[in-house]
Amino acid sequence: MSLKKYLEAGKIGKEARELGKELIREGVSYYEVAEKIERYIRDAGAKPAFPVNLSANYEAAHYSPVKGDNRYFRRGDLIKLDLGAHVDGYISDTAVTVEVGTNKWESLIEASAEALNNAIKSIRPGITTREIGKVVEETLGFYGYNPIRNLTGHGLGRYDLHHGLVIPNYDDGSKDKILPGMAFAIEPFATNGKGYVHEGKGGNIYIFRKWNNLKGAYAQMFEEFKTLPFAARWCTKYENYESLLKKGAFLGILYHFPILHERKKFMVAQTEHTILLTEDSVIVTTR
Ligand code: CO
Repeated sequence: MSLKKYLEAGKIGKEARELGKELIREGVSYYEVAEKIERYIRDAGAKPAFPVNLSANYEAAHYSPVKGDNRYFRRGDLIKLDLGAHVDGYISDTAVTVEVGTNKWESLIEASAEALNNAIKSIRPGITTREIGKVVEETLGFYGYNPIRNLTGHGLGRYDLHHGLVIPNYDDGSKDKILPGMAFAIEPFATNGKGYVHEGKGGNIYIFRKWNNLKGAYAQMFEEFKTLPFAARWCTKYENYESLLKKGAFLGILYHFPILHERKKFMVAQTEHTILLTEDSVIVTTR
Protein backbone atom coordinates (compact mmCIF):
# COMPACT_ATOMS: atom_id res chain seq x y z
CA MET A 1 0.00 0.00 0.00
CA SER A 2 1.36 3.37 -0.87
CA LEU A 3 0.34 5.39 2.15
CA LYS A 4 1.67 8.67 0.82
CA LYS A 5 -0.29 8.48 -2.42
CA TYR A 6 -3.47 7.39 -0.66
CA LEU A 7 -3.16 10.36 1.71
CA GLU A 8 -2.54 12.78 -1.15
CA ALA A 9 -5.55 11.45 -3.09
CA GLY A 10 -7.62 11.73 0.09
CA LYS A 11 -6.63 15.33 0.73
CA ILE A 12 -7.44 16.38 -2.84
CA GLY A 13 -10.74 14.47 -2.76
CA LYS A 14 -11.72 16.23 0.45
CA GLU A 15 -10.87 19.67 -0.94
CA ALA A 16 -12.75 18.93 -4.16
CA ARG A 17 -15.80 17.86 -2.14
CA GLU A 18 -15.71 21.04 -0.05
CA LEU A 19 -15.42 23.12 -3.23
CA GLY A 20 -18.38 21.23 -4.73
CA LYS A 21 -20.51 21.90 -1.66
CA GLU A 22 -20.01 25.63 -2.19
CA LEU A 23 -20.71 25.46 -5.93
CA ILE A 24 -24.06 23.68 -5.72
CA ARG A 25 -26.55 26.57 -5.71
CA GLU A 26 -29.97 27.23 -7.20
CA GLY A 27 -29.73 28.02 -10.92
CA VAL A 28 -26.19 26.72 -11.42
CA SER A 29 -25.69 23.99 -14.04
CA TYR A 30 -24.64 20.43 -13.24
CA TYR A 31 -22.12 20.62 -16.07
CA GLU A 32 -20.39 23.68 -14.64
CA VAL A 33 -20.10 22.14 -11.17
CA ALA A 34 -18.81 18.77 -12.41
CA GLU A 35 -16.26 20.40 -14.69
CA LYS A 36 -15.01 22.80 -12.00
CA ILE A 37 -14.56 20.01 -9.47
CA GLU A 38 -12.71 17.80 -11.93
CA ARG A 39 -10.49 20.71 -12.98
CA TYR A 40 -9.67 21.32 -9.32
CA ILE A 41 -8.61 17.68 -8.93
CA ARG A 42 -6.39 17.83 -12.03
CA ASP A 43 -4.86 21.19 -11.07
CA ALA A 44 -4.01 19.80 -7.63
CA GLY A 45 -1.92 17.07 -9.26
CA ALA A 46 -4.35 14.14 -9.15
CA LYS A 47 -6.88 12.78 -11.63
CA PRO A 48 -10.58 12.11 -11.16
CA ALA A 49 -10.96 8.45 -10.13
CA PHE A 50 -14.42 8.54 -11.73
CA PRO A 51 -16.70 11.25 -13.13
CA VAL A 52 -18.27 13.63 -10.62
CA ASN A 53 -21.71 12.21 -9.80
CA LEU A 54 -24.51 14.71 -9.11
CA SER A 55 -27.60 12.67 -8.40
CA ALA A 56 -30.83 14.43 -7.40
CA ASN A 57 -33.66 13.56 -5.01
CA TYR A 58 -34.76 9.94 -5.63
CA GLU A 59 -31.70 9.29 -7.78
CA ALA A 60 -29.22 7.54 -5.51
CA ALA A 61 -26.19 7.54 -7.79
CA HIS A 62 -24.57 7.66 -11.22
CA TYR A 63 -25.88 10.83 -12.82
CA SER A 64 -23.01 12.74 -14.40
CA PRO A 65 -23.75 15.60 -16.82
CA VAL A 66 -22.93 15.61 -20.52
CA LYS A 67 -21.57 18.46 -22.61
CA GLY A 68 -24.48 20.83 -23.24
CA ASP A 69 -26.42 19.31 -20.33
CA ASN A 70 -29.59 21.25 -19.52
CA ARG A 71 -29.92 20.24 -15.89
CA TYR A 72 -29.70 23.06 -13.33
CA PHE A 73 -29.97 22.86 -9.55
CA ARG A 74 -33.45 23.83 -8.36
CA ARG A 75 -34.52 25.06 -4.94
CA GLY A 76 -35.38 22.07 -2.72
CA ASP A 77 -33.22 19.58 -4.64
CA LEU A 78 -31.41 16.98 -2.55
CA ILE A 79 -28.07 16.49 -4.33
CA LYS A 80 -25.64 13.65 -3.72
CA LEU A 81 -22.17 14.84 -4.74
CA ASP A 82 -19.95 11.76 -5.08
CA LEU A 83 -16.41 12.16 -6.37
CA GLY A 84 -13.02 10.55 -6.39
CA ALA A 85 -9.39 11.43 -6.99
CA HIS A 86 -6.46 9.17 -7.67
CA VAL A 87 -2.70 9.62 -7.51
CA ASP A 88 -0.95 7.01 -9.62
CA GLY A 89 -3.97 4.72 -9.25
CA TYR A 90 -4.35 5.13 -5.46
CA ILE A 91 -7.95 6.23 -4.99
CA SER A 92 -10.02 8.39 -2.69
CA ASP A 93 -13.81 8.16 -2.90
CA THR A 94 -16.00 10.59 -0.95
CA ALA A 95 -19.55 11.91 -0.98
CA VAL A 96 -21.74 14.49 0.69
CA THR A 97 -25.40 15.47 0.35
CA VAL A 98 -26.43 19.08 -0.21
CA GLU A 99 -29.97 20.45 -0.05
CA VAL A 100 -30.39 23.41 -2.38
CA GLY A 101 -31.83 26.46 -0.58
CA THR A 102 -34.13 24.61 1.87
CA ASN A 103 -33.70 22.40 4.94
CA LYS A 104 -36.55 19.95 4.68
CA TRP A 105 -34.23 16.94 4.53
CA GLU A 106 -31.75 17.97 7.22
CA SER A 107 -32.41 14.90 9.38
CA LEU A 108 -32.05 12.51 6.41
CA ILE A 109 -28.67 14.07 5.61
CA GLU A 110 -27.65 13.99 9.26
CA ALA A 111 -28.69 10.33 9.56
CA SER A 112 -26.38 9.24 6.75
CA ALA A 113 -23.50 11.37 8.08
CA GLU A 114 -23.95 10.02 11.61
CA ALA A 115 -24.22 6.44 10.33
CA LEU A 116 -20.86 6.94 8.60
CA ASN A 117 -19.31 8.42 11.78
CA ASN A 118 -20.53 5.53 13.91
CA ALA A 119 -19.37 2.99 11.32
CA ILE A 120 -15.88 4.53 11.31
CA LYS A 121 -15.75 4.48 15.12
CA SER A 122 -16.55 0.77 15.10
CA ILE A 123 -13.60 -0.20 12.87
CA ARG A 124 -10.86 -2.39 14.35
CA PRO A 125 -8.70 -5.09 12.79
CA GLY A 126 -10.78 -8.20 12.22
CA ILE A 127 -14.21 -6.53 12.36
CA THR A 128 -16.66 -8.24 10.03
CA THR A 129 -18.36 -6.22 7.32
CA ARG A 130 -21.77 -7.27 8.68
CA GLU A 131 -20.96 -5.55 11.99
CA ILE A 132 -20.30 -2.30 10.15
CA GLY A 133 -23.56 -2.78 8.25
CA LYS A 134 -25.39 -3.30 11.52
CA VAL A 135 -24.05 -0.01 12.93
CA VAL A 136 -25.19 1.82 9.78
CA GLU A 137 -28.65 0.25 9.85
CA GLU A 138 -29.15 0.92 13.56
CA THR A 139 -28.04 4.54 13.30
CA LEU A 140 -30.38 5.21 10.39
CA GLY A 141 -33.16 3.42 12.24
CA PHE A 142 -32.66 5.70 15.23
CA TYR A 143 -33.53 8.62 12.92
CA GLY A 144 -36.49 6.72 11.48
CA TYR A 145 -34.90 5.92 8.11
CA ASN A 146 -33.86 2.87 6.15
CA PRO A 147 -30.55 2.06 4.52
CA ILE A 148 -30.51 1.26 0.83
CA ARG A 149 -29.77 -2.44 0.95
CA ASN A 150 -28.63 -2.97 -2.58
CA LEU A 151 -25.97 -0.24 -2.51
CA THR A 152 -22.76 -0.85 -0.61
CA GLY A 153 -19.36 0.44 0.36
CA HIS A 154 -16.42 -1.33 -1.21
CA GLY A 155 -12.75 -2.21 -1.09
CA LEU A 156 -10.31 -0.06 -3.07
CA GLY A 157 -7.39 -1.35 -5.10
CA ARG A 158 -4.89 0.33 -7.35
CA TYR A 159 -6.84 1.51 -10.43
CA ASP A 160 -9.70 -0.57 -9.05
CA LEU A 161 -12.68 1.32 -7.63
CA HIS A 162 -14.63 -1.74 -6.45
CA HIS A 163 -12.02 -4.15 -5.18
CA GLY A 164 -12.80 -7.26 -3.16
CA LEU A 165 -14.72 -6.21 -0.08
CA VAL A 166 -18.39 -5.35 -0.06
CA ILE A 167 -19.40 -3.23 2.94
CA PRO A 168 -23.16 -3.49 3.37
CA ASN A 169 -25.44 -0.83 4.82
CA TYR A 170 -27.24 -3.47 6.96
CA ASP A 171 -26.37 -6.75 8.65
CA ASP A 172 -26.18 -9.03 5.63
CA GLY A 173 -24.75 -12.00 7.54
CA SER A 174 -21.38 -11.79 5.79
CA LYS A 175 -18.29 -13.14 7.56
CA ASP A 176 -15.81 -11.06 5.55
CA LYS A 177 -13.28 -9.29 7.74
CA ILE A 178 -11.51 -5.95 7.54
CA LEU A 179 -7.79 -6.44 8.07
CA PRO A 180 -4.73 -4.18 8.36
CA GLY A 181 -3.47 -3.09 4.95
CA MET A 182 -6.94 -2.71 3.47
CA ALA A 183 -8.26 0.47 1.82
CA PHE A 184 -12.00 0.84 1.50
CA ALA A 185 -14.95 3.23 1.26
CA ILE A 186 -18.00 3.24 3.52
CA GLU A 187 -21.08 4.96 2.12
CA PRO A 188 -24.36 4.85 4.03
CA PHE A 189 -27.34 5.68 1.83
CA ALA A 190 -30.36 6.81 3.89
CA THR A 191 -33.90 6.89 2.57
CA ASN A 192 -37.43 7.57 3.75
CA GLY A 193 -38.50 4.76 1.41
CA LYS A 194 -38.21 0.99 1.81
CA GLY A 195 -34.55 0.96 0.85
CA TYR A 196 -33.98 -0.49 -2.59
CA VAL A 197 -32.78 1.08 -5.80
CA HIS A 198 -33.44 -0.12 -9.31
CA GLU A 199 -31.76 0.70 -12.58
CA GLY A 200 -33.10 3.62 -14.56
CA LYS A 201 -31.91 4.41 -18.04
CA GLY A 202 -28.24 4.71 -18.90
CA GLY A 203 -26.33 7.66 -17.54
CA ASN A 204 -23.20 9.13 -19.02
CA ILE A 205 -20.60 7.03 -17.24
CA TYR A 206 -18.74 4.10 -18.77
CA ILE A 207 -15.98 1.64 -17.86
CA PHE A 208 -13.98 -0.82 -19.94
CA ARG A 209 -15.07 -4.41 -19.40
CA LYS A 210 -12.76 -5.84 -22.09
CA TRP A 211 -9.05 -5.00 -21.76
CA ASN A 212 -7.39 -7.09 -24.45
CA ASN A 213 -7.13 -6.75 -28.24
CA LEU A 214 -8.67 -3.30 -28.25
CA LYS A 215 -8.35 -1.47 -31.54
CA GLY A 216 -8.29 2.13 -32.81
CA ALA A 217 -10.04 4.69 -30.63
CA TYR A 218 -10.93 2.06 -28.00
CA ALA A 219 -7.23 1.26 -27.50
CA GLN A 220 -6.46 4.98 -27.11
CA MET A 221 -9.34 5.45 -24.69
CA PHE A 222 -8.23 2.45 -22.60
CA GLU A 223 -4.73 3.91 -22.48
CA GLU A 224 -6.26 7.12 -21.11
CA PHE A 225 -8.90 5.80 -18.68
CA LYS A 226 -7.51 2.38 -17.86
CA THR A 227 -9.73 0.34 -15.56
CA LEU A 228 -11.51 3.32 -13.99
CA PRO A 229 -14.96 4.75 -14.85
CA PHE A 230 -15.02 7.71 -17.24
CA ALA A 231 -17.53 10.28 -18.49
CA ALA A 232 -18.89 10.70 -22.01
CA ARG A 233 -17.88 14.36 -21.72
CA TRP A 234 -14.22 13.32 -21.28
CA CYS A 235 -14.31 11.73 -24.74
CA THR A 236 -15.09 14.74 -26.93
CA LYS A 237 -11.65 14.59 -28.58
CA TYR A 238 -12.47 11.19 -30.08
CA GLU A 239 -14.29 11.42 -33.40
CA ASN A 240 -18.01 10.56 -33.16
CA TYR A 241 -17.51 9.80 -29.49
CA GLU A 242 -21.20 9.39 -28.74
CA SER A 243 -21.67 6.58 -31.25
CA LEU A 244 -18.29 5.11 -30.26
CA LEU A 245 -19.52 4.83 -26.67
CA LYS A 246 -22.93 3.44 -27.65
CA LYS A 247 -21.34 0.88 -29.95
CA GLY A 248 -18.76 -0.04 -27.31
CA ALA A 249 -21.54 -0.75 -24.82
CA PHE A 250 -23.50 -2.73 -27.43
CA LEU A 251 -20.44 -4.84 -28.26
CA GLY A 252 -19.67 -5.50 -24.59
CA ILE A 253 -16.35 -3.62 -24.73
CA LEU A 254 -17.78 -1.02 -22.36
CA TYR A 255 -20.19 -1.15 -19.46
CA HIS A 256 -22.68 1.73 -19.42
CA PHE A 257 -23.66 2.59 -15.83
CA PRO A 258 -27.41 2.97 -15.35
CA ILE A 259 -28.72 5.78 -13.15
CA LEU A 260 -29.91 4.23 -9.88
CA HIS A 261 -33.33 5.31 -8.59
CA GLU A 262 -35.03 4.66 -5.28
CA ARG A 263 -37.67 2.17 -6.38
CA LYS A 264 -40.73 4.22 -5.36
CA LYS A 265 -39.06 7.61 -5.87
CA PHE A 266 -38.46 8.27 -2.19
CA MET A 267 -35.63 10.60 -1.20
CA VAL A 268 -32.02 9.48 -0.76
CA ALA A 269 -29.07 11.02 1.11
CA GLN A 270 -25.50 9.66 1.06
CA THR A 271 -22.25 10.35 2.91
CA GLU A 272 -18.95 8.63 2.13
CA HIS A 273 -15.34 8.53 3.27
CA THR A 274 -12.26 6.55 2.28
CA ILE A 275 -10.52 4.67 5.06
CA LEU A 276 -7.18 2.91 5.47
CA LEU A 277 -6.73 0.37 8.21
CA THR A 278 -3.16 -0.12 9.46
CA GLU A 279 -1.96 -2.36 12.28
CA ASP A 280 -2.53 0.34 14.86
CA SER A 281 -4.70 3.04 13.32
CA VAL A 282 -7.81 3.90 11.34
CA ILE A 283 -7.00 6.64 8.85
CA VAL A 284 -9.87 8.52 7.22
CA THR A 285 -8.13 9.97 4.16
CA THR A 286 -11.02 12.22 3.08
CA ARG A 287 -11.86 13.85 6.42
CO1 CO B 1 -17.83 4.63 -3.36
